[in-house]
Order: sequence, then structure tokens, then C-alpha cells
Amino acid sequence: MSTYDARFRIWRGDADGGGLTDYTVEVHDGEVVLDIVHRLQATQAPDLAVRWNCKAGKCGSCSAEINGRPRLLCMTRMSVFARDETVTITPMRAFPVIRDLVTDVSFNYAKAREIPAFVPPAGLAPGEYRMKQEDVDRSQEFRKCIECFLCQNTCHVVRDHEENKPVFAGPRFLMRIAELDMHPLDAAEDSGLDRRRTAQDDHGLGYCNITKCCTEVCPEDIAITDNALIPMKERVVDRRYDPVVWLGNRIRRRNGA
Ligand code: SF4
Ligand code: SF4
Ligand code: FES
Repeated sequence: MSTYDARFRIWRGDADGGGLTDYTVEVHDGEVVLDIVHRLQATQAPDLAVRWNCKAGKCGSCSAEINGRPRLLCMTRMSVFARDETVTITPMRAFPVIRDLVTDVSFNYAKAREIPAFVPPAGLAPGEYRMKQEDVDRSQEFRKCIECFLCQNTCHVVRDHEENKPVFAGPRFLMRIAELDMHPLDAAEDSGLDRRRTAQDDHGLGYCNITKCCTEVCPEDIAITDNALIPMKERVVDRRYDPVVWLGNRIRRRNGA
């Protein structure tokens, strides 16, 4: 087994400010960046804060930025960097820092709570639901999400624009609305909930200009933009310019509804 010493530059600080600190840490064959952070804690910086749980790319806790790119610390192999390269690790930029590499991601939990859950179809009990396999496959892709929030952190609509946060749910949660809107058994409309309208009017779908940056950083390789956001935008437009819907809205307005 070969080992070598690698240079790291890690952001240390808290909500009041901080800066990059240089370290030299031993690296062993096959290690990932989280291994190095753990060795650093064990040997030089026991107070270095980092959030992690599974070390298997499944819990979504170890999100950070490595050389400026949003990534999971536990799924980034050291072998992707040259041995003489300085590896810089910083916390996610779109969320407030708590300490060192740990950020406060509660923005995402607040957005999750704003999205109404699946509305079960009337007259059918769980176990009686029947769906086509292609519909199952479609939502299965979105359900691979591990809620790492790397896509949320990357999206330019909020990354440098704190002021957009109240009106923009972000790709992860626009994808959730799209998933529910595509669900053949979701009975939201029957209960008066128009998911397309809320996506556009309440959750900021119109801010998304389909740059696909969210898709590029997703560790689950979910085609967020192509399979969720673009189809959702198309359905919003279909609804808005559907002549039957247009006529219905006119009549409702005329009747003062
Ligand atoms: S595709 Fe839309 S949601 Fe994704 S990063 Fe770009 S603007 Fe944000
Ligand atoms: S969609 Fe991908 S990048 Fe976004 S939170 Fe889920 S797993 Fe992470
Ligand atoms: S520690 Fe769970 S995804 Fe990295």
C-alpha cells in the first residue's frame, strides 16, 4: 500500500467569519476526502466540525465544496486529484455556516414543509393502487434523492441571491412538485390544489432558466432539469395556453368567481 502527504486548505470559522487554514495530511490508497478529514481530526484538528453519517453516499450529510465544486466528501476519491495538488474544502455556500464545514440547511426543510403531500385517490385504499410500470419508473428516479442539497446549493437563483430564497423552492423541491404532478393517482386537483399553478406562482418555477447546473452536481445522477423541471414548465405552459382552460377562466372572471 502506498502513502503520500497531501496538502489541504480547509475553511475554519463560524457565523462571525473565518478563513482557510493549511494542513498536510497522510493519504493512503483508496481513500476518500472524508477519510482525510477524519485523519485530520484524529491527528491535528480535533475541533474541526464536519457533518457525516453513512460514509456510503446515502445519508446526504457530508455535502461541501471541494476545489469549488459541490460534492459529497465521502464519495470523492483522493485519486481524482494530482498528488501535488492542494485540495481546498469549504462549506456549502448557499447556506449559513454553523462551524467549519457544517452549514445550517434548514432552508430546505422549510421548503419541504411548504409542499402539500400526495393526495390519495377517493374510494381506493393503499394496496388497491394500480399504476403503469412506466409511471412507477418515472417517479422512482426522483425518489433516489438522498437530500444532500447539493443541487439547492448550486442553483444560481439562490446561491448568490439571498433575496430569492423566500420565493424559490429550489430544484430539489420543484422536482418534488413535478413528481406529484406526474403521479397518475394524485388527487390534488379534486381537492382544489393546482400543483402546476403553485409551482409557478408560489415556488418560483419561472426563475429556473434550465441551466442544468443542479443536474451536474447530483450524486444520484437524477436528470433533475430534463426529467422534472422542463416537463413541469411545459405542463405549466400547456395549462396556461390551453384554449378550454382560457375560456373557463374568462367565464369564471366574468361571473365574479
Ligand atoms: S436548471 Fe433551474 S433549478 Fe437547476 S440550477 Fe439551473 S436555474 Fe437552478
Ligand atoms: S436531487 Fe440530487 S443533488 Fe438534489 S438533493 Fe437530491 S440527491 Fe442531492
Ligand atoms: S456521509 Fe452519508 S452521504 Fe456522505
